[in-house]
Formats: sequence, C-alpha cells, structure tokens
Amino acid sequence: MSSAGIAVTELPTAPAGILPGDGPFWERLPPRDARALRLPDGILLQDQDDVRTAFRDKRLVNLALAMLRSDPAVDPAFIERRTKQLLSMEGPDHLRLRQLTMTAMSPRAVEGYRARMRSIMENLVAPVLPQGRCEAVEALLRPYPIPVVCALMGIPDQDIDFFSRVSADWVAFMHMGTGAAAVSYAAHLDMDAYLLPVIERRETRLGDDMLSHLLRAEEDGDRLTRQEIVNMIGGFLAAGTDTTRYVLGSGLYLFAQNPDQWQKLRERPELVGRAADEMLRCAPAGGFISRYASTDVDVNGIAIPKGTAIALSLLALNYDPTIVAEPHRFDIERPVVRAPHLTFGFGPHTCLGLHLAKAELEEALLVLSRAFVTLELDGPCEWRPPHGLQGPTRLPIAFTASTAANGEARRMAG
Ligand code: HEM
Repeated sequence: MSSAGIAVTELPTAPAGILPGDGPFWERLPPRDARALRLPDGILLQDQDDVRTAFRDKRLVNLALAMLRSDPAVDPAFIERRTKQLLSMEGPDHLRLRQLTMTAMSPRAVEGYRARMRSIMENLVAPVLPQGRCEAVEALLRPYPIPVVCALMGIPDQDIDFFSRVSADWVAFMHMGTGAAAVSYAAHLDMDAYLLPVIERRETRLGDDMLSHLLRAEEDGDRLTRQEIVNMIGGFLAAGTDTTRYVLGSGLYLFAQNPDQWQKLRERPELVGRAADEMLRCAPAGGFISRYASTDVDVNGIAIPKGTAIALSLLALNYDPTIVAEPHRFDIERPVVRAPHLTFGFGPHTCLGLHLAKAELEEALLVLSRAFVTLELDGPCEWRPPHGLQGPTRLPIAFTASTAANGEARRMAG
C-alpha cells in the first residue's frame, strides 16, 4: 500500500481488525503501535485523530452501497432505493432528514418511551426467574429491541414476528454480501406494504408515539413523506436491533466476570447511566466502522487510493490508554469524560438513535439488576465470528432471583 510518509503495517490475519481466536473480541486487539494496518481487504485506521478526520471526510462513503454498485447482478431499483437511506446520503439531503427526525429521537421524547422498554424487559425476565438460569441471547436479548421499536410505533404485538423476519432480511446483504441483495430488496418492499397503510391511518389520529412524532415533524413547511418515514423506520430496525442486543449481551458477560460491579449497580442504581457507557466503551457493537474511498484521499498523511475499503477502529479508540486509564478494567464508576467512547460513531453520521439505545440499555440493566441478586456465567459462551457486528451468540447465565422480583413474577404469571 502506498502512503505519503506514513507506513501502513501489514496485518493480514485480522479480517475485522480483531486478532483471530476465541472469546470476547475486545481481548484480541491488534498491536496499537502502528497508525494504519493493512487488512486482507482494506486498511484499518486506529489513531484517534485519523479516525475522527476520516469520519468527517465526505469522500469516504458508505461501503455497503459501494458494494451493491460494484455488482452488475444487483437490481438497479434496489441500488436506487438504498441511496435514500441515511447512511448512504451526504450533504444537505442527509442533514434535512436528520433534522426532521430529531424530535422523535430527542432525549425528551426518549424519556416518554422508557416505561414501555421497562415493561418489555420485565415480561422477558418473569418466566426465567423461577429457573435461576437461562440462555440470555434467546431469553432476553433476541426478543428485546424489536418489540421496543414496535411498541414505540404503536405496532401490535402479533406483528412482531413479521418485523423480526423483515428486519433480519433487510440487512442480509450487509452481512452476506451482494448475493443476498434480492432477499434484502424483498424485505424493503414488504416493509413498504405493511407500513404505508399504518402511516396513512396514523395521520388521522396522532398520539405520543414515535411514529406520530415523525408525522408531526416540520421545518419551514417541509415534512417527511410517507416513503421517507418507512425508510427511516426500516433504518431504525436495521441499525438498532443487533447493535443493542450485542452491547447488552457483552455487557452482561462483563458484569458476570466482575461480580463486584454487579453488586455496585444493585446497591446504587443511579450509576446505571455510567454502567451503560462503560459497556458501550468496552464492547462496542462492532470493532470498527467501514467506509469506501470514492476518490484518492489523504488522511493526515496516510494515502488512501480510490476504491479502498477503510475500517475506522472504534476498539482502538475506546481502549486508548491516553484517553481511558487502565482501559481493560471494567469500571462503572469511571470519572465522566467528555467523549468516553466512539461506539456511536462520530461526525455527520453519528448514531441517530443514541439516546434511545442508551435508554434501552439502562432500562434493561435496571430491571435485570433488581431481579438478579447474583449473576454468573453458566457454561461456555459463543461469539460472532470476527466480521462486522460483534457480540455473544450464546450466553448461558445463572442467577439468584431476588425475593421481591420472584414474587412479582408469580403475580404476573397468575
Ligand atoms: C447500542 C446500540 C447502538 C449502537 C452501538 C449504534 C451505533 C451506531 C453507529 C456507530 C453509527 C454510525 C455508522 C456509520 O458512521 O457508518 C450509527 C448510525 C445510526 N444509528 Fe445507531 N447504534 C445503536 C442503536 C441504534 C438505535 C436503537 C437506533 C434507532 C432506533 C439507531 C439508529 C441509527 C441510525 C438511523 C443511524 C444512521 C445515522 C446517519 O447515517 O445519519 N441506532 N449507529
């Protein structure tokens, strides 16, 4: 790889900027001495200034869209459709959509969504409490984020399975490559067919739900079209489902490994916000964020030729000892710093759902820490292979149920 003065170190065995091996991905960080590492299919940037510069550079564009464009077998109608997703857009059109969505995703709106999150997690915990153990991915993590978004949209429970299937298919091409583009496109059309009539009906009786906030949003007479709202909701489900599951799953793993921190959270629930941030720092939903060089780009002296895939390492920054003291220590009482982690990205595409995601993590932690007096691992965990998003795919846990929570669970069951 050519470079303008800055050496790009070879690291051919790290497909996702994570060294091969078993166990939690944050324990397999590549060496941090090189600013840029060459991966089999691109370049990993891991210096904080370079990563922030790259996040701001609009010539470094969405990799998933570039992949679709490079495959002549992909239906052009799907490519056109994907250009309308926030992550694919840049400049004024992107800003307009973000501004019109701000109110629905604001901290104030999110406060109003918390009770629904809490009751969804309480309903998931109740049936496992008497057993004292469960496989947390199936019992608690997989069924959490989609019902939350559905509840916030006012979508009935009986349609949650449909949304789970469509959300998984919607992102299939991102995980499986352009060969899955047809499945993803079909999911986009299924989402249109379901949601457009829902939106039309909701327009006549606006409430306090997220969909109503999106319908009410207005800037100088400009409003979101129905199709833009469908795209937005699809984007929320695609961006907010596995990410939330994986951070919560990795977080429970970290708590199980650090029982003193679990006790601290139980005794001082007011630490929940810091606990969520510490989970997000230690175990971002992915080790890195990808971009694609639409032209030759120079990132602070590192030459990136047109057509290169770039991985912006979140892990390198979240574990940077010059920012976070003893970064491998899981500590929910860390002093508050201005930018504790880059798990929600940086620059124009910073996660639009970050307040919602943090609230989901906090409400889940509050319910679980009230219910489980102790928390430990109950067998080997399995982790996603080191590509794309990262987190546990199997997380057996054992716990002692609190007497109060157990009584409440029996009352709910009765
Ligand atoms: C812990 C959970 C989450 C994590 C770690 C996370 C992380 C991220 C990151 C890193 C980005 C930037 C991607 C890039 O620059 O390419 C992003 C973007 C985005 N996220 Fe999240 N996210 C989470 C939850 C959510 C939720 C719950 C929602 C909505 C319901 C959401 C909606 C979005 C949207 C719409 C974007 C695109 C923003 C844009 O392109 O302007 N995310 N997220």
